[in-house]
Amino acid sequence: MSLTLKKISQFLRHNSLKLRNVRHYCKKAEDTEIPVNPLKKYYSANDQATNGHIYDKKPFKYTCVAGKTYAWCLCGRSSSQPFCDGTHKNQFLQIKHKPIRFTVTETKDYWLCNCKQTKNRPFCDGTHLREDIQAKRTL
Ligand code: FES
Repeated sequence: MSLTLKKISQFLRHNSLKLRNVRHYCKKAEDTEIPVNPLKKYYSANDQATNGHIYDKKPFKYTCVAGKTYAWCLCGRSSSQPFCDGTHKNQFLQIKHKPIRFTVTETKDYWLCNCKQTKNRPFCDGTHLREDIQAKRTL
């Protein structure tokens, strides 16, 4: 019984620290809005059912330029994360994931998913905070 209470208090303390960090980094209300990829409907790669390997357990902040097309790595094996470097084309690795092409409508900082488990590719939707993802090993 006391072991369970101890685990619950550890979980609450751990997650409240994360929430404090989120509030610290999200100074404006618009920072908390999760953007949507306007190219989602044009590329079938967005419909891939599975996700890639967990590259990192936290998102990456990057200044995206409006109208420019980017290729976000879904397989998690690229060496220029969070973007694709063509590693998925290596026949010996037998990677089935394809990169996600995306663009933005406004030039500003975006949080790009690095855990590769987001449901709103390529933008972080907070999925990396899941306990099972935090417990997994990265590549
Ligand atoms: S880094 Fe993947 S959902 Fe946040």
